[in-house]
Amino acid sequence: MQATQNSPKSSSERERDSDIMEVLQVLHMNGGNNQTSYASNSSLQRKAISIAKPITEEAILASFCKTSPESLGVADLGCSSGPNTLFVVSKIIDTIYAKCSQISCRLPEFRIFLNDLPGNDFNTIFTSLPAFYDKLKEEKGEGLESCFIAGVPGSFYGRLFPSRSLHFVHSSYSLMWLSQVPPELDSGNITNKGNIYMAKTSPPEVLRAYLKQFQKDFFKFLRSRSEEIVPGGRMVLQLLGRTSADPSSKECCYIWELLAQALNDMVLQGVIEENELDSFNLPQYAPSPPEVKALVQAEGSFIIHRLETYAVSWDPEDNAIQNLVFDRSKRAEKVATYMRAVAEPLVTSHFGEAIVHDLFKRYRDIVSEHMETEDAKFTNLVISLEKK
Ligand SMILES: C[S@@+](CC[C@H](N)C(=O)[O-])C[C@H]1O[C@@H](n2cnc3c(N)ncnc32)[C@H](O)[C@@H]1O
Repeated sequence: MQATQNSPKSSSERERDSDIMEVLQVLHMNGGNNQTSYASNSSLQRKAISIAKPITEEAILASFCKTSPESLGVADLGCSSGPNTLFVVSKIIDTIYAKCSQISCRLPEFRIFLNDLPGNDFNTIFTSLPAFYDKLKEEKGEGLESCFIAGVPGSFYGRLFPSRSLHFVHSSYSLMWLSQVPPELDSGNITNKGNIYMAKTSPPEVLRAYLKQFQKDFFKFLRSRSEEIVPGGRMVLQLLGRTSADPSSKECCYIWELLAQALNDMVLQGVIEENELDSFNLPQYAPSPPEVKALVQAEGSFIIHRLETYAVSWDPEDNAIQNLVFDRSKRAEKVATYMRAVAEPLVTSHFGEAIVHDLFKRYRDIVSEHMETEDAKFTNLVISLEKK
């Protein structure tokens, strides 16, 4: 609900806005290119982008053939910073370039928008653009001179682009992040004792609060994109999800339950306070296909072409030969390091910097024990939508 100029916001609305602002300011992946950066620890997400490539290609070609634009508007939402950012862009350009070469048509102008929250490390992306443009021209010739890439800081849970300006929207591993921790949890009205996310021991009202926040956010996301995408334009969204009807099922929650275990150990040893742990909850939700389908249908602007799930191992380089070479503690180290690249800004803003190293060392050991006994996997959800 937006307050108009004539109706000042109530104190609860102001409180809620400041909760949202807090997540928007704090949530970002670790920037830069060092050992703990997202750029150095995003091969799991890259693998997922590659697995979904056929769906992405099918959607971008369908949009291009249906709308035949002279100027193709493309947005990658939650682009972060690192090799995956321009990997997605180059795959989209490759697909259109191959089609135009095949049917001997003129290449469109590319307007490519890279969106993320304002705290994202856009500078690292911008500094890599000149080399990216040079490589494009070298590989594909002068036709690719009309490729314009711009950064768009802001939340995708609101309008980001002019009306009917986009032909294709892509988003990977971003939409499971909520705009805020469910307000009932943040205000302390309900508690999620000893947990930091939905977990087996979370009370039902916690699970309901998370679902409610996801429904609100995803609906807003669809409504905003419905204004921005041309009719016939497409959207491919990939996010963490689940196949189970149970929102606290292991497939989506366990990786965070293990981080909660490490935090609980630190409470027991007096490193952090119990109330610090109890007031920390993650703004994330991994939906099931029926939950997503119901929201797309309720919003009403999009046709669903594909809605699929697939599993990926926690260890992105998981294969029999590699598993023989690397011992389990090295594999757990990789998992703990990429989870740190994702969660460190949120953890630091709540608990302070001092505990981070210790926390992720404990986490690595707990993950290692788990990976010994279970074939740990995430469930990814891919949705391909067309604007009516
Ligand atoms: C795990 S990264 C995924 C990056 C990249 N798409 C990939 O697949 O490697 C998730 C990104 O989503 C961004 N994000 C989360 N919520 C967002 C929002 N409301 N608006 C825009 N970006 C958001 C985060 O800042 C983060 O950079």
